[in-house]
Amino acid sequence: TFVVTENCIRCKYTDCVEVCPVDCFYEGPNFLVIHPDECIDCALCEPECPAEAIYSEDELPDDQKDFTELNAELSEVWPNISEKKDPLPEAEQWDGSADKRQYLER
Ligand code: SF4
Ligand code: F3S
Repeated sequence: TFVVTENCIRCKYTDCVEVCPVDCFYEGPNFLVIHPDECIDCALCEPECPAEAIYSEDELPDDQKDFTELNAELSEVWPNISEKKDPLPEAEQWDGSADKRQYLER
């Protein structure tokens, strides 16, 4: 499965949802997640993310491994998103900023 990681927080560009053939993205207030049981590993979303926040589970950086569980958990409760929308207003400013976990809204 593919996993959305920390750098999506407070950016939420949503380019990823547009290419997903199985519509397995779920949307929270300032972050998106992938449903691990629905993702078919097509890899189409990974290069689409301007924040480079999407990784194959096998290639997750060590400091992002907790996002596997977070994607599984939050994709069960958040609503589905299948169409691109505007990024969050300060997306460019937050892109690449460290320690964004603390800002994750549920
Ligand atoms: Fe969707 Fe493919 Fe990305 Fe999985 S890898 S979330 S199926 S676009
Ligand atoms: Fe997030 Fe990147 Fe998608 S910032 S919403 S994973 S395009």
